[in-house]
Amino acid sequence: MLKLSKLAAALALVAAGTAAMAGEVEVLHYWTSGGEAKSVAELKKIMEAKGHVWKDFAVAGGGGDNAATVLKSRVVSGNPPAAAQIKGPAIQEWAAEGVLANMDPVAQAEKWDSLLPKVVADVMKYKGNFVAVPVNVHRVNWMWANAAVLKKAGVAGMPKNWDEFFVAADKIKKAGLIPVAHGGQNWQDFTTFESVVLGVGGPKFYSDALVKLDQKALTGETMKKSLETFRKIKGYTDAAAPGRDWNLATAMVMQEKAAFQFMGDWAKGEFIAAGKVPGKDFLCAAAPGTANAFTFNVDSFAMFKLKGAAAQKAQADLSAAIMGTEFQEIFNLNKGSIPVRLNMNMAKFDDCAKLSGKDFVETAKTGGLVPSAAHGMAISPAAEGAIKDAVSQFWNDDKISVDEAQKRIAAAAKTK
Ligand code: GAL
Repeated sequence: MLKLSKLAAALALVAAGTAAMAGEVEVLHYWTSGGEAKSVAELKKIMEAKGHVWKDFAVAGGGGDNAATVLKSRVVSGNPPAAAQIKGPAIQEWAAEGVLANMDPVAQAEKWDSLLPKVVADVMKYKGNFVAVPVNVHRVNWMWANAAVLKKAGVAGMPKNWDEFFVAADKIKKAGLIPVAHGGQNWQDFTTFESVVLGVGGPKFYSDALVKLDQKALTGETMKKSLETFRKIKGYTDAAAPGRDWNLATAMVMQEKAAFQFMGDWAKGEFIAAGKVPGKDFLCAAAPGTANAFTFNVDSFAMFKLKGAAAQKAQADLSAAIMGTEFQEIFNLNKGSIPVRLNMNMAKFDDCAKLSGKDFVETAKTGGLVPSAAHGMAISPAAEGAIKDAVSQFWNDDKISVDEAQKRIAAAAKTK
């Protein structure tokens, strides 16, 4: 009898121990499209396999403005999630509020500093401590196309510069198809605008104008040319573009209703989720004039201070899982991005991802690697929001002249 009770006691201890180790992680994100949802489901799977409870705090709205609003109300009420999709300079603002957890114990145990490009690790730290975990590297300056639509319109290949683009767009319009699938939302307007600035002015001008917010660059001739090019694109979009979600624009390209979409490679996640094959059903190329550049957008999760050992353990496991090789591969294969963890085996990734990986390394050496202003990587959220609105107003209102838009963007850049 004694033996049985000892065994029962031992089992009870193990069960209690496991139960104590298991915790709940509530994760705020805005990945609600087909490809995005499939991607984040992989993290849920990994966490549940570790015995934790995954509480999905998904807030729809491309670009993340809606999610940021909901997060603020949760933190103000003293009830933050374990992790939230926060990236770039916004991480510093949240950390300065004293609400983010110090993840150094995990970072040191998992050797994150040796597994990340320094430029990325530095963004994840506040006063030298890790407070966020990077997920991926998205490239924003992509142009997606439907190969069959280009063929139908007699367009030989992917336009390499904006002059070639407008020749192709005229052919597509003549063939009765929509040259550019666009979603008329301010963050999508800004996404297209930043690729135009990069293509017209090159990476140095892009950095001067949209990263350093240099007034001379913002008020000069190159910005004027960029705005003229940007406005010209509007004439190649369809009347139903206003308010359209980005993934519905991607679907227009998939369904052969439109030829091109200017969007980051989360759009590739939609093609992949629909079983489309790169190089056959759809084409990827750098946005016109930007083959020598790479606008990076690193998604990350900021970790919030939590009470209780089980919750903190689950949060530590979440952080380690995100930087682990298993998640870095399966998530990015679905998301359309490339792993942020260095020295990953890219054998399973397609040619678009391999091009992205090659260009990420090459542009880091040439100065062509620049942070995406439209996706929260380059400037303060306040300046980004103000510029985004000025760009979107210009896109939506033909009565706003290029000169007026230039003045508004330069003024918006001074927002603190
Ligand atoms: C970006 C984000 C991507 C994707 C996209 C569309 O800002 O980094 O992961 O979610 O918005 O919502």
